[in-house]
Amino acid sequence: MTKKNEVNYKIFSNKLLDWYDVNKRDLPWRVKANQNINPYHILISEFMLQQTLVVTVIPYFLRFINKWKTIDDLAKANFEEVAISWSGLGYYRRAKNLHETAKIISRDYCGDIPRKKEILLSFPGIGDYTASAIMAIAFNIQSNVVDGNIERIFSRLYKIEKPLEKSKKFIKMVSEKHLPGSRHGDYAQALMDLGSLICVPNKPKCGICPMLFYCKVGNKKIASLYPKRLPKKIKDQRYGIFFILINQNKEILFYTNKKDGLFVNMDLLPSLGWYQSKFFLDHNPDMITEEIALFNFKWKIFQKKLFHVFSHFKLSCTIAYYQLDNNSCKNFLLDEKTFRFVNKNDFNKLALPTLMKKIIKIIEDENLINY
Ligand code: ADE
Repeated sequence: MTKKNEVNYKIFSNKLLDWYDVNKRDLPWRVKANQNINPYHILISEFMLQQTLVVTVIPYFLRFINKWKTIDDLAKANFEEVAISWSGLGYYRRAKNLHETAKIISRDYCGDIPRKKEILLSFPGIGDYTASAIMAIAFNIQSNVVDGNIERIFSRLYKIEKPLEKSKKFIKMVSEKHLPGSRHGDYAQALMDLGSLICVPNKPKCGICPMLFYCKVGNKKIASLYPKRLPKKIKDQRYGIFFILINQNKEILFYTNKKDGLFVNMDLLPSLGWYQSKFFLDHNPDMITEEIALFNFKWKIFQKKLFHVFSHFKLSCTIAYYQLDNNSCKNFLLDEKTFRFVNKNDFNKLALPTLMKKIIKIIEDENLINY
């Protein structure tokens, strides 16, 4: 690297940090100038921010740190409680990983988050990005933090023509060169804020960008075409049927999913076809045939379909419901080890994925479980 380049990188990071000092977002895991950063808060926020937007994370983060004030508190918690506090954030494996990581740090590191990237990387759910973010933000240690926002910034700054999927290594190499000699946490967060406030995916606000001078596509129409992408893969379409069984107290049947994969340890409505088996992978289950009619009831079907998008497939949900009466109750023997009826007032004690919440909203709107 030439001396001239080094000077340029320094001017670049100074300019970005000056902008950050004035424009940074006020986020609850960030601290005011005279406060100390709480590494536990950074750990929680970085786990939550993996794949979830800042606005969604904020209330979850605040509830979490209020409930479990230290990493030792979190380590001692029951996972069921952690899952409940996580429900709605999605990607539940993260909650399990966060809890496991807290237990390891509490048990093996006296509750102090280690300041070594290799050790952080050995914990469940901590990959290169999260480890780098913790190093920079929690401990102010130089670290090349590169997420999707930051990749977008560097693809534009350098007008990278290769699709992002094939230029990640190059971007990392370039972004490494820009790292400043101090204020490592602020610099990482400044890039994140630039990516979410100015260098946004569509219609970037180049007119007010502090880095415009350095940017090869800045203020040009082509800016929003970067980063270039490989053509999108079409997501699998799956079909599933979800069963709402309502007892005479207007309670709904749930079970806790113990199977590995999606929604581990979450509370779910019984369903068929989309996950455990491949019944409806290619077929729309408008008719419930006897062989698939859960508990052999004559289920009623909602005309309205519910759509939900997962990271690797799209799901079209058919919702079936059945209200138990005196007669059907008599012959119905429930496997109580697996299933339980839950009252509407206790839904907040369940660990419900967003998909289940969406289905419940539909049946509430239809007045099926209101008194
Ligand atoms: N996305 C991931 N980590 C973040 C952070 N610390 N601040 C803002 N956005 C983020």
